[in-house]
Amino acid sequence: MGFSYDESCKEHFRSPEEGSEPRVSMKEWVNYFRLAILQAMVEKACTLEKTEAIVDQMRADIEKNMPATKTTVKMIVVAGASGNVGAATVRKLAELGGVSVKALTRDSASDKVAPLKALPNVEVVECDLLDKASIARACSGVTAAVLTCGNNQQQVESENNFIDCVKAAGCTNLVKLGTVGLYTAKDSKSEYARYHAEIEEHLETTAGEMKWTVLRPNWFMTNHLGDIFGSLPMGVIAYPVDPEAKVATVDPRDVGDLAAKLVVAADPRVHHGMKLDVSGPEEVNTSQMAALYTESLGRPIQAVNCPLADWIAGGVKGGLPEWLAVAASNNFLYWGEGKFTFPSAPQVLALAAPQRTMAEWVKEWAPRSPPPTA
Ligand SMILES: NC(=O)c1ccc[n+]([C@@H]2O[C@H](COP(=O)([O-])OP(=O)(O)OC[C@H]3O[C@@H](n4cnc5c(N)ncnc54)[C@H](OP(=O)(O)O)[C@@H]3O)[C@@H](O)[C@H]2O)c1
Repeated sequence: MGFSYDESCKEHFRSPEEGSEPRVSMKEWVNYFRLAILQAMVEKACTLEKTEAIVDQMRADIEKNMPATKTTVKMIVVAGASGNVGAATVRKLAELGGVSVKALTRDSASDKVAPLKALPNVEVVECDLLDKASIARACSGVTAAVLTCGNNQQQVESENNFIDCVKAAGCTNLVKLGTVGLYTAKDSKSEYARYHAEIEEHLETTAGEMKWTVLRPNWFMTNHLGDIFGSLPMGVIAYPVDPEAKVATVDPRDVGDLAAKLVVAADPRVHHGMKLDVSGPEEVNTSQMAALYTESLGRPIQAVNCPLADWIAGGVKGGLPEWLAVAASNNFLYWGEGKFTFPSAPQVLALAAPQRTMAEWVKEWAPRSPPPTA
């Protein structure tokens, strides 16, 4: 019985339309032909030339029928994309390339998201995290997620909704922005830290196969926007903390860069289950900040150790909800005790060590401060 290579052999292939996998593996396919050709040669049903012709035909058919390996483009959803950390995450993802990004916001017409619309492979998507159907629609097709919401009193419900929806959408990994690790607890003095503890517990207990990492940053440089638009015109920066007490303040853009690098990491198992501290590259105190402002503005700025109640009142005047100003004021207890000088986790330093300094931040922002009041 001779061997012939004909149309029936092609049954072993799938067409490109059917998918990228052949019905049999390449190894099985090669073995099948090796055996058939050997059998034909042994039976002397094939001449050498005929065998070579069969092999050539076989190679050509394999090349024609085996579609190129499909490259899966990662689609990453970023919640809180208009915020300090979220916008930086979206920018970094666009810069890294090779991914498409859904940038979520409650208001796609807002000025905050306008710059994101110009980024390559970024789609701004309107979505309310309190509405699960809206998240499910926004998350169709996403493969990984970053959760960077601002503090609000419905944070537990909205962030848990997001976690549930990205898991249901089939995301393989999620990076969540938390808060300072040393006071993240369900009985924390700070309301938003209690929220984060609850959300992290939800993540830990419900994520299933989805891998996750939590970032626990130190005091954000952007908290000093209150200096820029509030107290600098009066020649002071006022905090309820010893002006010599140090803090390893971090630029949220560095946190966003880190989140982007984590979410695209080749193997999300590496950082799975980790809660990573993130601090800035150096420690500063408010005396040094005042000196940086003085240098940048060319007029004297003094660091004042003000009463806690005054700082809370100033925050509320500047637009913070009172509950948030009260919760945030607890930071100064730890800062004053020297507990805000904790280092970044080694995994953070290895992947994307925060680089931006307070001096750079002041240089960037101080010129935007209104002129001094008479
Ligand atoms: N400030 C710090 O020193 C510090 C330090 C460590 C950790 N953190 C943590 O970092 C997070 C804040 O990060 P961030 O400064 O990047 O945030 P952000 O800029 O204050 O807010 C991020 C985005 O969250 C969305 N958002 C706000 N309120 C919302 C609500 N009620 N429902 C749904 N979305 C809402 C907003 O987007 P849209 O309006 O476009 O929807 C906003 O642009 C907090 O979880 C905080 O605990 C802060």
